[in-house]
Amino acid sequence: MRIYSRILGTGSYLPENRLTNADLAAELALQGVETSDEWIVDRTGIRARHFAADDQGSSDLATEAARHALAAAGISADDLDLIIVATSTPDMVFPSVATMVQNKLGTAGCPAFDVQAVCSGFIYALTIADAMIQSGSVKRALVIGSEVFSRILDFQDRTTCVLFGDGAGAVILEASDQPGILATDLHADGKYKDILCVPGHVNRGGILGDPVLKMDGQAVFKLAVGVLEDTARASLAKANLTDADIDWLIPHQANIRIMQSTARKLKMSADKVVVTVDQHGNTSAASIPLALDTAVRDGRIHRGQTLMLEGVGGGFTWGSVLLRY
Ligand code: UT7
Repeated sequence: MRIYSRILGTGSYLPENRLTNADLAAELALQGVETSDEWIVDRTGIRARHFAADDQGSSDLATEAARHALAAAGISADDLDLIIVATSTPDMVFPSVATMVQNKLGTAGCPAFDVQAVCSGFIYALTIADAMIQSGSVKRALVIGSEVFSRILDFQDRTTCVLFGDGAGAVILEASDQPGILATDLHADGKYKDILCVPGHVNRGGILGDPVLKMDGQAVFKLAVGVLEDTARASLAKANLTDADIDWLIPHQANIRIMQSTARKLKMSADKVVVTVDQHGNTSAASIPLALDTAVRDGRIHRGQTLMLEGVGGGFTWGSVLLRY
């Protein structure tokens, strides 16, 4: 009999400090950088973002999200067999955020590691956890996406600094004989490294290269709309399902225009797309579990429904997870 990975519970966390577009525009104006609520909403759909406090790292946000997911699942951290954190903004070069989360949750022993696939990180992490559950080696996994992108933004660059925010989202997966994750699809193409990257790195006690996010927005946009359709179709084909079987599309939350375009290509109406980018901007690996948790908690997503989760980001990386909730 096939072993499935079922979502037992979800959770998320956004830091307290919330800046609307108007708040951010006012702060940027003080540094001579001009932007407006109108431009940001028009081009991206973003209305607000949250920034972590100086003493909060990805592991703190991840731990909060994990606590909510554990409570929703009705299990304790000691019940976990695996912890994976998807992040591109770890607290330290090493150890991993996942081991810090494990410790902050007050448990020890189970394997814990990070996955770095930028905005597709949560899809990658979920796929790895699913494979480990299907193999029988793991029964319960905590999978988190957590980011503090505010730390790697160049606030002199209005083409990027208005787009990103901080946050975390988490799911608890459990082995089950009932359908859960139905199909997964992952891809990468390293030739696109320069269109979305943070080129700086630690070198002999200093930073070599520019340690802030660089993005060619239009190039990313064009690539994203193509691969998001392709990967959704690939997962559907693997599960012998069609577009019409998807109840909810939960895409990476970067830009409302990319999400609407993907929905059109999949012949889905806009009201079947979970959109939270307006409330937290692009939170990279955290965006998909943040959107998922929001729609679970507000009652839109019901048990038995079919969800298409999909992401695209730096690398380039992209992929999808099709699941029965
Ligand atoms: O998470 C990874 C995935 N990332 C993404 O999916 C991002 C994909 N890309 C995008 O979402 C869009 O390309 C952006 C939102 C980044 C940009 O939107 P766009 O419609 O492609 O705008 P643009 O880059 O063509 O810029 C249009 C104009 C430019 O002015 P000129 O040259 O036409 O005079 C920019 O200088 O908008 C200007 N502009 C701004 N104006 C006010 C750029 N940023 C801003 C800003 N405020 N923040």
